Amino acid sequence: MATRLGLLGFGTVGAGVWDMILRQGYADSLTIGSIGVRDTSKPRTAPAELFTTDLARVVEDCDVVVEVMGGLDPAFDLLAQASRAGKPIVTANKELMAKRGHELFAMGAAPIRFEAAVGGAIPVVGTVARSIEPHQIQRIVGVLNGTSNYILNQMRELGISFGEALAEAQALGYAEADPTHDVDGYDSLFKIAILSALVTGKRPNLDAATRQGIREVSSQNIADAEAVGGRWRLVASARFAGTAVSLEVRPKLVGPAHPLFELPGGTNSVMIRGTHSGDVSLRGPGAGAGPTASAVLGDILEIVRDPHQLRREWSVNHAPAVPEGPGPSDELGAHFASDVLWED
Ligand code: HSE
Repeated sequence: MATRLGLLGFGTVGAGVWDMILRQGYADSLTIGSIGVRDTSKPRTAPAELFTTDLARVVEDCDVVVEVMGGLDPAFDLLAQASRAGKPIVTANKELMAKRGHELFAMGAAPIRFEAAVGGAIPVVGTVARSIEPHQIQRIVGVLNGTSNYILNQMRELGISFGEALAEAQALGYAEADPTHDVDGYDSLFKIAILSALVTGKRPNLDAATRQGIREVSSQNIADAEAVGGRWRLVASARFAGTAVSLEVRPKLVGPAHPLFELPGGTNSVMIRGTHSGDVSLRGPGAGAGPTASAVLGDILEIVRDPHQLRREWSVNHAPAVPEGPGPSDELGAHFASDVLWED
């Protein structure tokens, strides 16, 4: 019998999930029973009779809840409802997982999957959660926001303004409904916080993090960087010392030998350094309908194949923060990351 999915949200990702289920031939094994949205009057690619504004009903009437609406409210309450009812959850919601994921884990016994919350199509959540021994991980460094990377690339390559490049990123379905989350570094912070929680098993401490976005990287800054052979990247990093974590998101200049120098369009890249594992690098499309829907579908299929799999969770206690080093500086030279990725 087909697994009945309850889809919460039908924006870029929701429409991508719908499209992929049809195109990839899953329609016999996966049925989208209903789709919860705020406004049913908008023209959409799925049949009108599937849409409802009764979001709680979507959760009630399905086997697996697929949350792609984003934000905390009402998403958290709906996932709490699902969790209490023992229904498996697949979510792409990075803000929710970073801020309240620990509460969801504490609540229910059903699996919660969130591969799509970090790095789009890149299987980084599964890699950190299941494929690398966590206690030996020292650093995670990467570019985790496709919109910011796209904007920085377009400003440099085409000389267009920040606003023009952001409008393109929105048209491509990269940006959040509120692009402040992308350009001010919140989205990157949520993602690196989720990865850090997978390493420590503890709730990430967002308040102790350093966060700076790309809004202040001007066309002149980009030209100055070009003149000295550098490129700006919005770099997210987590540094681990025992169970303590330091989280940082800020623009950095990287030189031609740096692993983040060649990172076209909205590409994301994540590097994980472990004492025993060595350096593991992943890169790929980090945003947009197809890449994100691919990760959502991967999670759904994993749940359908093995609903009794082990859950990953982190406790309600914060991971202690590692004291910060010097903050970001306005001087160009101070932004230059070493070509040795791990030294900055
Ligand atoms: N707005 C996000 C980004 C989407 O640009 O990376 C993927 O999480």
